[in-house]
Amino acid sequence: MPASVYVVSIDPQASTVWWANRITDLPFDFSQEHESPENLQVLKDAGARVHVIANQKGGVGKTTTTLNLGAVVADVLKTSNKGLQHVFIDTPGSLQDENLLLEALKFAHDVIVPMPPEGLAFDPTARTIQKVIVPTGLPFKVVVNNWDPRDGTADLVDTQEYIDAQGWPRAQTVIRRYKVHTRASVEGRVVTQYPKNRVAMEAREDFFRLALEMGYGGRA
Ligand SMILES: Nc1ncnc2c1ncn2[C@@H]1O[C@H](COP(=O)(O)OP(=O)(O)O)[C@@H](O)[C@H]1O
Ligand SMILES: [Mg+2]
Repeated sequence: MPASVYVVSIDPQASTVWWANRITDLPFDFSQEHESPENLQVLKDAGARVHVIANQKGGVGKTTTTLNLGAVVADVLKTSNKGLQHVFIDTPGSLQDENLLLEALKFAHDVIVPMPPEGLAFDPTARTIQKVIVPTGLPFKVVVNNWDPRDGTADLVDTQEYIDAQGWPRAQTVIRRYKVHTRASVEGRVVTQYPKNRVAMEAREDFFRLALEMGYGGRA
């Protein structure tokens, strides 16, 4: 029986690989496929729902979102025994590798676009959505990631208003900024492996909520 979740990276820079290789007891199957994106067809043919995480701006949280969504969905489905159900694809954060992103989108059922609440991210995110995602006709959702509640709501509200003004579908869930996420990427840990303290529980709830909202299964 294959795992219920498969995470793929097609980012040649491969921070996902570096991260995934450090995680002990990965809760999902994982592979790097930037040299052979046609392998994605096999996963789609297996009947799985394929989700591409995309934004051609680096550092917006694609890898963080991919691995942690993969982890929470695997956690929710761990007793389901229905074989492979969801594939999450991490993609490059650069314009040079646009062909790889386009290749991944051929196999996708939907697209998640992480975006931090900062003005610098607006234009590159808009380019990815308008030039790359919208022409595919795929359903997509923009997810605000890396909002620090201690900064107040002004930047968050500005970003949400910008997204809404563009007419882009936006996730209600906001992924907050927590040091535990940044540290986890260094230590090789996904949210479902965080220590059981209050802050870590809050941090992982954002990903459980996002999975539920996206319809990937979940719990409130
Ligand atoms: N919600 C968050 N809270 C804290 N740190 C975050 C969060 N999202 C991303 N980061 C950190 O920001 C950096 C860039 O994130 P990453 O997922 O690698 O972006 P991308 O894959 O889009 O380049 C990493 O160090 C990551 O740990
Ligand atoms: Mg990345």
